[in-house]
Amino acid sequence: MFGVTGDLARKKLMPAVYDLANRGLLPPGFSLVGYARRDWEDEDFAQLTYESVKEHARTPFRDTVWQQLSEGVRFVQGDFDDNAAFDRLAQTVRDLDQERGTGGNYAFYLSIPPKFFPLVVQQLKRSGLSDPDAVSGVVGGRRPWRRVVIEKPFGHDLASARELNANLDGVFPPHAVFRIDHYLGKETVQNILALRFANEMYEPIWNRGYIDHVQITMAEDIGIGGRAGYYDGIGAARDVIQNHLLQLLALTAMEEPVAFDADSLRTEKEKVLSAVRLPADLAAGTARGQYAAGWQGGVAVHGFLEEDGIPADSRTETYAALRLGVDTRRWAGVPFYLRAGKRLPRRMTEIAMMFQRAPHLPFAATDTRELGQNALVIRIQPDEGITVRFGSKVPGTAMEVRDVNMDFAYGESFTESSPEAYERLLLDVLIGDPPLFPRQQEVELGWRILDPVEQFWAEYTKPEQYPAGSAGPASADALMARDGRAWRRL
Ligand code: BG6
Repeated sequence: MFGVTGDLARKKLMPAVYDLANRGLLPPGFSLVGYARRDWEDEDFAQLTYESVKEHARTPFRDTVWQQLSEGVRFVQGDFDDNAAFDRLAQTVRDLDQERGTGGNYAFYLSIPPKFFPLVVQQLKRSGLSDPDAVSGVVGGRRPWRRVVIEKPFGHDLASARELNANLDGVFPPHAVFRIDHYLGKETVQNILALRFANEMYEPIWNRGYIDHVQITMAEDIGIGGRAGYYDGIGAARDVIQNHLLQLLALTAMEEPVAFDADSLRTEKEKVLSAVRLPADLAAGTARGQYAAGWQGGVAVHGFLEEDGIPADSRTETYAALRLGVDTRRWAGVPFYLRAGKRLPRRMTEIAMMFQRAPHLPFAATDTRELGQNALVIRIQPDEGITVRFGSKVPGTAMEVRDVNMDFAYGESFTESSPEAYERLLLDVLIGDPPLFPRQQEVELGWRILDPVEQFWAEYTKPEQYPAGSAGPASADALMARDGRAWRRL
């Protein structure tokens, strides 16, 4: 694991490794080698892992599990351009193969800024680590595997995404590259496929004949925290719309895959992404904002431009909204509204399928004044579940109809708690199961959608300020109002 001192490694990756071990899903010989610049011994890295597990693991801490795991923890100190250090790394994993019977299978997790990917990948090649035959040779009659895991951002536009991929391509074959979009590891996201393709009742209404529009929201209450270096110049659209929200759109709008294998799933997602159409007028069909100082949960918080490390004239957006079309027979004319932002009133991700109104209401107008649009809402997080909203008669003598909700909550229907996204994804890397990892084609399609929007924004707009703790910039409400619609309340 490269980048072991980073936030992601400490808060998500190492705890996920422990949780997998605790659930009995890792082989006893599993070993974890950290690589970083710090002048550390194995014990220092083991201590860091211990602390991150203690603080962030999902499952209870058990001493025996930790002991077993910690015996396989090693640390190699070095810079990314240090040949000798990579040679030590190669020796370390070779020793582990001998000592712990790891079978010569290596997954390299690059939890590092993307600008270092080419260098690290070249070092893996130079030191022979990327080549199964160079380091370990055939073990037990089976050729060991090599896999590389990379984290977004996969470039910042189409051209840089291609360049990044070209760097990987020369060293690892496409099937050995695992691109993490952690939204695909979430139970509720995988459940979109179950909801749509394991049931009969939704399919007939899942189309332009019944759906008026779709709203996909990813709201966060947090600001950018200590991530100025990453976030400035990236912004909400590149950070989460290009990947997480477009993946949600793809899963919602795609056709049924012929099988549940990686190729079939990815093919259907790619078909939808290639059918996505941008609004003709980008000024009217997009909006972006930047949080200003305000109040969040009773606490006064800084505006984005006052955050540490953010230049006072930054034009990076912390909120973005888009109206997209999907040019297919199923979805022609149905807008998909996407919005994502930081410092909004609460943390909430959902997909809301908003239905057309009944073509005729045989009631007095006053009886249905309180009746909204029927909706099917997939609650991705928190409070995971699904809500169906429809009109119901209010008890009494009048025929008054009002919205009510029917609810499925994970917490009530299942006793087992959901694994963290990273548990699922790390396990899939180790067993070599690729359906939940976007391939390069999907990444490129995402940039094809976003690049013109980013260019338009850079040339003609400046993000509009919105107070922290509010629902976003006024221009996002205006975008909806022009279409005669409104965002769901946050
Ligand atoms: C990451 C983004 O991909 O997702 C962050 O880079 C964001 O900016 C995070 O905060 C949110 O993840 P989750 O799982 O909490 O919705």
